[in-house]
Amino acid sequence: VKVDPFDLVVFGGTGDLAYRKLFPALFRRFLDGQFSEPTRIIGASRHDYDGEAFRQTIAKALRQYAPEGTKGEAVDDFLRIVDYVSLDIGTDAGWDVLGMKFPENSTPIRAFYLATGPDRFGAISAQLAAYGLITPSSRIIVEKPIGRDAASAAKINDAIGAVFAESQIYRIDHYLGKETVQNLMALRFANALFEPLWNAAHIDHVEITVAEAIGVEGRGAYYESSGALRDMVQNHLLQLLCLVAMEPPASMEADAVRDEKLKVLKALAPIDASNAETLTVRGQYRAGASAAGAVPGYPEEVGNPATEIETFVALKVNVANWRWAGTPFYLRTGKRLPKRVSELIVSFRNVPHSIFGADVKILPTRLVVRLQPDEGIKLWLMLKEPGAGGMRMRHVPLDMNFAKAFKIYAPEAYERLLMDVIRGNATLFMRRDEVEAAWRWIDPIREAWNQSPLEPRFYLAGTWGPASATALVERDGRSWYEETS
Ligand code: BG6
Repeated sequence: VKVDPFDLVVFGGTGDLAYRKLFPALFRRFLDGQFSEPTRIIGASRHDYDGEAFRQTIAKALRQYAPEGTKGEAVDDFLRIVDYVSLDIGTDAGWDVLGMKFPENSTPIRAFYLATGPDRFGAISAQLAAYGLITPSSRIIVEKPIGRDAASAAKINDAIGAVFAESQIYRIDHYLGKETVQNLMALRFANALFEPLWNAAHIDHVEITVAEAIGVEGRGAYYESSGALRDMVQNHLLQLLCLVAMEPPASMEADAVRDEKLKVLKALAPIDASNAETLTVRGQYRAGASAAGAVPGYPEEVGNPATEIETFVALKVNVANWRWAGTPFYLRTGKRLPKRVSELIVSFRNVPHSIFGADVKILPTRLVVRLQPDEGIKLWLMLKEPGAGGMRMRHVPLDMNFAKAFKIYAPEAYERLLMDVIRGNATLFMRRDEVEAAWRWIDPIREAWNQSPLEPRFYLAGTWGPASATALVERDGRSWYEETS
């Protein structure tokens, strides 16, 4: 389905995010025939390119990051709608040139994508207003991280909010654009089977694992001011937790969904200096081996031998409300773990009594939602093995692999999210109060870590984090999910 014509300005247009994710995503939507005329995409950054030189860099990025569609004339056709303005965010240089791209009577939807550091969000917003570029149909898209704690997030939100209405602001958490994350809502609210059991009476615990095999790549400077808690937990993991734990919203309308997520964030039991030692684990990788061979430790990678930044976090989270009291949520995320895998596991309580005798071990029903790679859903059940030899039982999965089942191209998160912005659908974006509530819950954890001897425990690159992460769940008589269980 085509979207209305739009003008999209990408600030930070020559940055990593633009080249790796945004332009490839726009290109795929273009190939799919989703754009209407006259649509324009305008890169903006300090680089002294002219339009042609910028388009060449985009062509190169597309060959690297979206190779499937780059044969033939498709790239040239796409580049015809791409333009560039060289400007300086901090001064007036170049802003009048950008202004001239938007004649008074131009009708398309206007979107401004801020693919820059959050310290620039306020300045860009102010300049957009000063140059009269904001129309009622304008919208602004901002990337995480929004701040580094509740106070800085509020400041950034104030600065953007001074010139844009909340309904014009789209805060991206790209995890919400992932196909399987949206499928979680389909699973919960379009099937009669799960929702009646979706509570502490029937669910023993929930696990959310977002594991990465890569290290900090070239982002050491950013990561040194961030760490895994700010980089992944405050946003991606808490958003996933919200979608699992929230009450059914009345509709998919943006505020209906966001109201329910906000209630979950507000219900999270605080973790602070009084309980951080038992509820949190922070880790940092040391030299070890990845699938690709030997890799350096985090301190060497960022050139800071004394660094105390965590590259791994595990948490035991309690959602203190009527539905979830007594069902812990175990969260973990880290870099340089054995493999890239993101999964949600809902582990049901075991049957109250076995009629099969003591020899038959009954394992709990488990719902595994695999976000990436190999997107799909597995439901582990106890079933009888075929044979006349008696009741031999096995824990086996009902296994649904999306790629095999649907045989259609699953769009990347950014493709879906960018088109949602143009359509004006904010359901998969974070509202201001959500972002700030998430920070308010995260801040005391960081403060507890800062003031106590809870420095990161080491783990070897290529392993599942520090031993204390295993202890965090085993202490409760549980374990992290492994494919074979
Ligand atoms: C980003 C983090 O938000 O998400 C990165 O800043 C991380 O550190 C990335 O690597 C993971 O995203 P994905 O889509 O590859 O799981």
